[in-house]
Amino acid sequence: MALRSVMEKLGRDMQAVTGAISKEEWTLVAELAPRIAKHAEPPLGEKMRILGWLGTDAGKFRGFDGQVHDAASSMGDAAKRGDGQAVIAAFSKTQQSCLACHQSFRQSFMKQFYESR
Ligand code: HEC
Repeated sequence: MALRSVMEKLGRDMQAVTGAISKEEWTLVAELAPRIAKHAEPPLGEKMRILGWLGTDAGKFRGFDGQVHDAASSMGDAAKRGDGQAVIAAFSKTQQSCLACHQSFRQSFMKQFYESR
């Protein structure tokens, strides 16, 4: 699934943010944050497949994606202000949103799209 490469990129960008925070490189955090907030999406066909599978849970799934978007955006804003504490708080919120979606959907997603072929 194309979603996996989207996720791998998100994982790499989040790791890069961790490194930048450790060095207080707020300009770099400000560059990386929008890549996380406005990450790529799978092609339309795959999106439709995923939404079809989600059914009534689609809103919940999209909600987690929205949380990532909002948290990563405020991380970028905080980085532009050079406000390290706020960057870290927003980073934590971002990571919590990744985790929340993974805990709700990752296992069943993998079962649906990788094991049942
Ligand atoms: C809306 C739901 C959702 C959100 C939000 C989300 N993920 Fe995921 N993520 C998934 C699903 C579903 C998979 C399984 C995809 C697959 O294996 O094809 C996954 C898998 C992954 C993987 C494993 C990829 C692999 O190679 O097996 C990584 C890394 C990852 N996500 C990182 C992140 C990060 C970092 C964030 C937050 C910035 C995030 N994800 C937010 C749904 C989400």
